[in-house]
Amino acid sequence: MNIKGCIFDLDGVIVDTAKYHFLAWKRLADQLKIRFNEEDNERLKGVSRMDSLEIILELGQMRLDAKLKEEYASLKNKWYVDYISRMKPEEILPGSLEFIHELKQASIKVAVGSASKNTPMILERVGLNGMFDAIADGNIVHKAKPDPEVFLTAAKLIGLEPRKCVVFEDAVAGVQAALNAGMFCVGIGSEKVLKEAHYIVPGLNKMNLKKLQKIEKLSGL
Ligand code: BG6
Ligand code: MG
Repeated sequence: MNIKGCIFDLDGVIVDTAKYHFLAWKRLADQLKIRFNEEDNERLKGVSRMDSLEIILELGQMRLDAKLKEEYASLKNKWYVDYISRMKPEEILPGSLEFIHELKQASIKVAVGSASKNTPMILERVGLNGMFDAIADGNIVHKAKPDPEVFLTAAKLIGLEPRKCVVFEDAVAGVQAALNAGMFCVGIGSEKVLKEAHYIVPGLNKMNLKKLQKIEKLSGL
């Protein structure tokens, strides 16, 4: 195969943490008396912590100084960490482990490409520590998706050129980041939302090595 590396977004692709992000942001929005629902939450997927706060403040037409923004972002993170510190291996999304094992057996490198600074804790809690060949996350990458930095960093860490890598992403900003990195992108989720992805599946349970080989043929990678 020409595909030598698979880079996975974490939140919404390997684990379902979007619900915990929502609960923590909702608690903050309620405290600030800003109306915030699950539909608004879609806009926060793949977006960095500070940019997510900006979106919520914009929804409430509220302006805050930098110090207060830092305080509220930390408060949200404290609540979020409360949730994820209780995560269990059962919260790994269906099909993820099987697919990753299949890739590793085929000597395809696997990496994480996530905006989250909480990536190490999540991987540890769900028992995926040491599973990946490399991790590019919010602790080492500073430009938010749709900037390609996170995926380019992941590719560099596994020693591969971008065109040899495929990205798995559930967020619009993440799909754009993959395209900006010059990588093939498999959208995880709905065709309506992830239109720009090269190929779309509802979840990693619908992915396997055979399908990856088919995608490679179709795309002329
Ligand atoms: C992304 C999530 O993976 O990480 C976003 O999709 C989140 O919702 C971002 O805001 C940053 O996460 P954290 O854990 O560093 O606040
Ligand atoms: Mg995601």
